[in-house]
Amino acid sequence: MPVIVLVGAQWGDEGKGKATDLLGDRLDYVVKFNGGNNAGHTVVIDGEKYALHLLPSGILSPNVVPVIGNGVVVDLNVLFQEIDGLEARGIDTSRLRISANAHVIAAYNRSMDKVSERFLGARRIGTTGRGIGPTYADKMNRIGIRVQDLFDESILRQKVTAALAFKNQVLSKIYNRSAVKGEEVVQELLSYVDRLRPYVADTALELSQALDRDKVVLCEAGQATLLDVDHGTYPFVTSSNATAGGACTGSGIPPTRIDRVVAVLKAFTSRVGEGPFPTELHDKYGDYLREVGHEYGTTTGRPRRIGWLDLVIGRYAQRINGVTDFALTKLDNYDGLDEIPVCVAYDVNGVRHEEMPINQTDFHHAKPIYETLPGWKQDISGCRKFEELPQQAQDFVHFVEQRIGARISIVGVGPGREAVIERHSVLGGV
Ligand code: GDP
Ligand code: IMO
Ligand code: MG
Repeated sequence: MPVIVLVGAQWGDEGKGKATDLLGDRLDYVVKFNGGNNAGHTVVIDGEKYALHLLPSGILSPNVVPVIGNGVVVDLNVLFQEIDGLEARGIDTSRLRISANAHVIAAYNRSMDKVSERFLGARRIGTTGRGIGPTYADKMNRIGIRVQDLFDESILRQKVTAALAFKNQVLSKIYNRSAVKGEEVVQELLSYVDRLRPYVADTALELSQALDRDKVVLCEAGQATLLDVDHGTYPFVTSSNATAGGACTGSGIPPTRIDRVVAVLKAFTSRVGEGPFPTELHDKYGDYLREVGHEYGTTTGRPRRIGWLDLVIGRYAQRINGVTDFALTKLDNYDGLDEIPVCVAYDVNGVRHEEMPINQTDFHHAKPIYETLPGWKQDISGCRKFEELPQQAQDFVHFVEQRIGARISIVGVGPGREAVIERHSVLGGV
């Protein structure tokens, strides 16, 4: 029966792809349940780098069935580019299953994403420009196109026409763009049908049957807790539920079947795009961590904004997701520092906040209250057991663990698949 949900604890890019890959050979299914090709996971296997955007990280493990759940928005062009890229490197992608209920990102929604960001100017979100927000908006507005619609040409044509009736008005009258021709959209989508057909399935049913046969299923979130449309720093968020609850709605797996929730917490913080970020660094330490951590977007190549570790956020992520185990990644990026400040609370207009402030204005004005821990000033990338870590690094892990309310079961000490310390088995006992 076991279902494990894996989420990001901060603003994304915590190392979720690597954590999934680490568990890879013990899993039977990996389900992507939210987001689309706004995600970017880098997985390093035997020194070779794989950058995945849309496909679940499980695609790299030969015995895993990767699943694109109903909660995902699928750019079909990107899907087949990624499939072709992996096949060219000898990776078999034929096991992939795609929910018939997943929505597709039509070309007009990529245009809408870009023009609306330009229109917002200084108030922009800093989206990835992949059409994610407009496609989820269409889903909620009940004018979206689902994977299954591609298999009924007449329905597809009706749905595209209905969506464009409104969008073309907006594009031409508000954004001053030329109208999109419905028939071109229909023909582009139809061009994928033959390749798509073998992958499409009732994934909720297949997952339910797999669980009845005691298969191990991992639901892998794109984005992260503070980018969640309900629980994140709205409006500077993505347009889906990236927290643990999204695993149920985005896959069709009921909450009663979930056993474990693993949150990936990076030892410092990064953020791409606009929005509040209390521990953000604008000094040499931010530049240093960006360089040693190679903190440039996998999807857009943008330099990531960098800040110290924020344990108010860590605790919040624990609470919102019901985290049972944390994976603390990139501890090795602190190897060169004398001391490491960690945010333990906020000062908002003279008042100490241990929890996330209730309103966004206070979060914008939150001043971090730091406790400073000593660094270890040595290379920890070769450590494979917790006891092999220098005392200061062990103390750092214990300090974080005490304040985030769940055990740290995995510690990342380097980018490679092998560079981890497993303190507790995430799958043990389930
Ligand atoms: P994701 O979006 O959460 O999957 O994370 P990304 O792949 O966008 O960014 C995480 C980056 O950190 C990747 O380049 C990983 O290879 C790398 N990484 C993951 N864990 C560790 C670690 O413990 N140490 C180091 N140095 N790099 C890591
Ligand atoms: P992974 O899965 C970091 C950010 C964008 C922008 C906001 C909204 O690699 O952790 P969108 O295109 O989703 O409408 O953009 O969300 N964003 C991410 N930041 N990692 C991601 O994914 C992200 N996916 C979206 O930068 O601020
Ligand atoms: Mg990423």
